[in-house]
Amino acid sequence: MPLLDKLNWRYATKKMDPAKAVAQDKVERIVEAARLAPTSSGLQPFEVIVVTNPALRARIQAVAWNQAQITEGSHLLVFAAWDNYTAERINAMFDYTNQVRGFTNEGWEAYRQKLLAAYPGRDPQVNFEHAARQAYIGFGASVIAAAFEGVDATPMEGFDPAAVDEILGLQARGLKSVTLLPLGYRQESGDWLAKLQKVRRPREQFVTEMN
Ligand SMILES: Cc1cc2nc3c(=O)[nH]c(=O)nc-3n(C[C@H](O)[C@H](O)[C@H](O)COP(=O)(O)O)c2cc1C
Repeated sequence: MPLLDKLNWRYATKKMDPAKAVAQDKVERIVEAARLAPTSSGLQPFEVIVVTNPALRARIQAVAWNQAQITEGSHLLVFAAWDNYTAERINAMFDYTNQVRGFTNEGWEAYRQKLLAAYPGRDPQVNFEHAARQAYIGFGASVIAAAFEGVDATPMEGFDPAAVDEILGLQARGLKSVTLLPLGYRQESGDWLAKLQKVRRPREQFVTEMN
């Protein structure tokens, strides 16, 4: 099936079948799509937490508008961004890049200094919001990858991030939750949205061509 057909097939699933679990290899590929997502300066300032533990997911559901997909699905991906850009975090990523590539490069080192001069001194909230935008890129990649795998997913920002951070102990790791993505399989009989047409503005109201 072409990718666009899969994107038409996917929808923000409201009711998942608790009896159907997503196979681990599919989950791995959906997470890998997030890891491969591009990020500003390649800093990759977010992580994905894969929650299968039923008790943890029940606690998260309670602080997420009681959305049942969180426990009816088999896996919950939590996208969590760095709470700040520190010199340590920036240096770690530049050092790691040098290690992977096996050489250092003057232009790259100059760019490191530019980021070190710009980011750590900024308001931590500004830095977190920048990092959160990168997390959204990974989140989008996982939404698309789930569709590609024929796995249902519900992109979610309807939750209390501070409460989820508390449940998962994210603050101690310098992370803040940004989005949730339950994975599972649709249960069409109980899902009011399953049979409704997808609604998107027509192309002419969405794309401007300047030739
Ligand atoms: C960032 C983001 C947050 C969303 N939060 C929720 C949510 O908390 N609960 C929910 O049921 N749907 C949520 N949605 C789903 C959207 O309502 C849905 O994607 C949109 O209406 C388009 O419909 P479709 O995804 O079914 O094509 C969210 C989507 C995005 C991208």
